[in-house]
Amino acid sequence: MADAAVRKDAGMAEVERLRAELETQRRLAEGKERQLERYASDLRETFKAERARTDELHASYVATVRALTNAVEVRDAYTGKHAERVAAYGLELTRHIDPELARDPQVEFGFLLHDVGKVAISDGILFKPEPLLTEERILMRRHAVIGYEIVCDIPFLSEAALIVRHHHEHWDGAGYPDGLAGEEIPFAARIFSVVDALDAMTTDRPYSPKASLAEARVEIAGKSGTQFDPSVVAELNRMPDRELEQIKATIT
Ligand SMILES: [Fe+2]
Repeated sequence: MADAAVRKDAGMAEVERLRAELETQRRLAEGKERQLERYASDLRETFKAERARTDELHASYVATVRALTNAVEVRDAYTGKHAERVAAYGLELTRHIDPELARDPQVEFGFLLHDVGKVAISDGILFKPEPLLTEERILMRRHAVIGYEIVCDIPFLSEAALIVRHHHEHWDGAGYPDGLAGEEIPFAARIFSVVDALDAMTTDRPYSPKASLAEARVEIAGKSGTQFDPSVVAELNRMPDRELEQIKATIT
């Protein structure tokens, strides 16, 4: 009898010990769960703050690029919003050709800044109403390299700088400043040179009358394979007039 009572007490004690252990485990699990929730919440906050910092940084990049672009455009009443409009044409065409490339902010920055080197070109040459003399043309052509030198050391513009440098290269190698040909020319610069010509042709200039979009398309097609990359011209031909006209009507 006494042994049975002792075994019963021992059994009860074991049950109590197991209960206590379970309770301890439950509390530990609760504690860990709360800790994990805190980690998750901290991570969410960190991510949000990081996102805000990235957005802020991007906004300051855009503001810097706009300031540089305006430094050129404010001098030239004829071109007006040329850089902004040509960048919009260029991005739209790039989206048709390679959407991934169009998402690279440096492509837009390069398009906007293409003529930043003109800040170093004298008014006498920049605004000369007559065609330029040979030596004046040589000076004018320096804007591509000057622009490159202005932006190439800025880390967030290192790729954009290549568009600035090579936006006057020709597919057949007859362009400047480096006489690159074909695929040696950065692809974004090849896209840009087509829309740069399109905008120049369809905008009022001191000594060349404005062409219609249809006329500009014919002229550009005529230079496919010589001045322009044929694949880029082919893609421009596939772009509906209304897409280009909408950009022209919005950015004047
Ligand atoms: Fe230029």
